[in-house]
Amino acid sequence: MQNNTFSGLFVGQNLLTIKQVDSTNNFLKEAVANSTPLPEGTVIMAEEQYEGRGQQNNKWNSEPGKNLTFSILLKPAFLSLNDQYDLNVAVSVGIIKGLQNVLTNAIKIKWPNDIYWGDKKIGGVLIENLVQGSVIKNSIIGIGLNVNQVDFPDWVPNPVSVKQILHRDYDLKALLYDICSGIEAAYLMLRAGNFEQLKALYLKNLYWYNETHRFKANNVVFEGTITGVEKNGQLVVSSGPVMRLYNFKEVEFLNKHK
Ligand code: BTN
Repeated sequence: MQNNTFSGLFVGQNLLTIKQVDSTNNFLKEAVANSTPLPEGTVIMAEEQYEGRGQQNNKWNSEPGKNLTFSILLKPAFLSLNDQYDLNVAVSVGIIKGLQNVLTNAIKIKWPNDIYWGDKKIGGVLIENLVQGSVIKNSIIGIGLNVNQVDFPDWVPNPVSVKQILHRDYDLKALLYDICSGIEAAYLMLRAGNFEQLKALYLKNLYWYNETHRFKANNVVFEGTITGVEKNGQLVVSSGPVMRLYNFKEVEFLNKHK
């Protein structure tokens, strides 16, 4: 384990790089549960995760040493449980801002937790909140980003990496720094109460926002337009005058090839 410092205000100031771990989210969760005193903004980054986790109990694939797999500890005690999706909004905006420096604005947030470049998935976010009473005491923000990997197993859906886009290797620490700075700026906006500004940035960078595409829900394929995201995180898809709300996994985005 090695300790480094970034020059941001707090996110990444305490950076621990681990060679091998099951999952950086598990590592950070256990550290917090064992009352290890860790400052807000602590980042645990792994060269290799042997049980990296994605959303919905999926596995997260990452070739050792090639990508960013890391978790950030935040302490959003100012957020009530009803507002927990606000944190997802802030983190997504922060990642996008960090990545747009490198990959232009083809980078988008695919609701609810994916990071897309064009129509391909370049990264994903797994946020795990540790709640005490009615507040979020600790939040583990797990981020996986495909950076220098070019071969992916068949089971990985729709992947792309920074190297496949730029045709060169990219420095992992430099990218980590950009993302941490982006998240810090967005998180400070959230903490300062500027949620409306964050939400506007979120919608501006939302994949398929205000565009008409095909979706599938309850085994029915239909054309619709994403017209918003509710306060509780539900996706709003409108078809003419009909407005439908979806939770995660209740609606599928049908790309051209499906
Ligand atoms: C997804 O797209 O399903 C979310 C992927 C999240 C992967 C990251 S890698 C770092 C952190 N540790 C984990 O085990 N998962 C997250």
